[in-house]
Amino acid sequence: MSGWRWPAFLVVAACFVAQATSVWLDLGPRPGSTVAISPLARQGQALFRNHGCQSCHALYGMGGFLGPDLTNAARRVPPGRYAQLLQEGAGPMPAYRLSADERAALWAYLQAVDATGQGTPVAPPGDAGPVFATAVQRWRIHGGELPDDAAAGARVVATGPCGACHRSFAVDPLMRAPDLSLALAHLDERQVRHVLADGRGTMPPMALDARQTGQVLAFLRWLAANRDELAPQRPATPTTLPWFAYPATNDRDNPVSESRQ
Ligand code: HEC
Ligand code: HEC
Repeated sequence: MSGWRWPAFLVVAACFVAQATSVWLDLGPRPGSTVAISPLARQGQALFRNHGCQSCHALYGMGGFLGPDLTNAARRVPPGRYAQLLQEGAGPMPAYRLSADERAALWAYLQAVDATGQGTPVAPPGDAGPVFATAVQRWRIHGGELPDDAAAGARVVATGPCGACHRSFAVDPLMRAPDLSLALAHLDERQVRHVLADGRGTMPPMALDARQTGQVLAFLRWLAANRDELAPQRPATPTTLPWFAYPATNDRDNPVSESRQ
């Protein structure tokens, strides 16, 4: 019996040392981890909730949409404009009767949130703007020809609602809408017509007439045929995401692990 005690003790002690070391070194992903905020920012957080700021403003994409997402407001909004906004309101934003101390606490909270990283996924540079419009433009600048019906389809896609969900040559991790340049790789034209007319999954039916549908199809055909040349060489995935969407890793692209140091 007593022969087991020492080995058991050593195993427990080794586990303890390993765990303590990994906590001390802050190794590995920590899903669900939190960031400490100052007492002033904590006060601001309570004010933010009690005054219903979240009913119009999102933080990390969650909250209301009447006003802009405030995750990175502290780096974007000059302090003078911020004070004026709260005191006087702006458009649908009401004026708030807050003391200077309360405004400072709210600002400290917004700064603490901002310091956790980029709150909204950002399209890779070069592919910003309406879906595929940049690729079409680049193609034309380099002297490429675009058949008329494909050009008309590009306009339908760039000016229609498609870009709210679909990205150029990428799958948006939030919307999960497929990369349209790959659609004809696994769907035939009849199936694409069907998706456009009736929707599929979370995609609603698109109000396109027969001519526009034909043009979109011509554009998708052109995209599929020239994808290798059109698509950016880098993988077109956003590199900055809300902290809750990705566990902190030692990945250099992850702004969260940097800002925690
Ligand atoms: C009824 C909706 C509503 C509420 C509630 C509201 N806001 Fe706003 N807020 C807006 C709108 C709309 C704008 C954009 C105003 C503009 O730029 O003309 C805005 C703008 C802002 C901006 C500037 C953001 C930027 O990027 O320019 C900040 C900061 C801000 N609000 C903070 C707050 C805070 C803090 C609260 C709570 C005390 C709050 N808001 C409550 C609607 C609201
Ligand atoms: C509200 C978001 C939303 C909008 C707006 C939207 N889509 Fe979609 N689309 C999706 C989603 C999500 C899917 C995947 C549906 C599924 O999983 O079944 C999809 C699928 C597709 C597919 C099938 C792709 C494949 O590889 O299977 C095509 C083609 C398509 N969309 C074209 C369009 C076009 C063209 C427009 C604009 C006229 C558009 N979509 C607008 C969300 C959207």
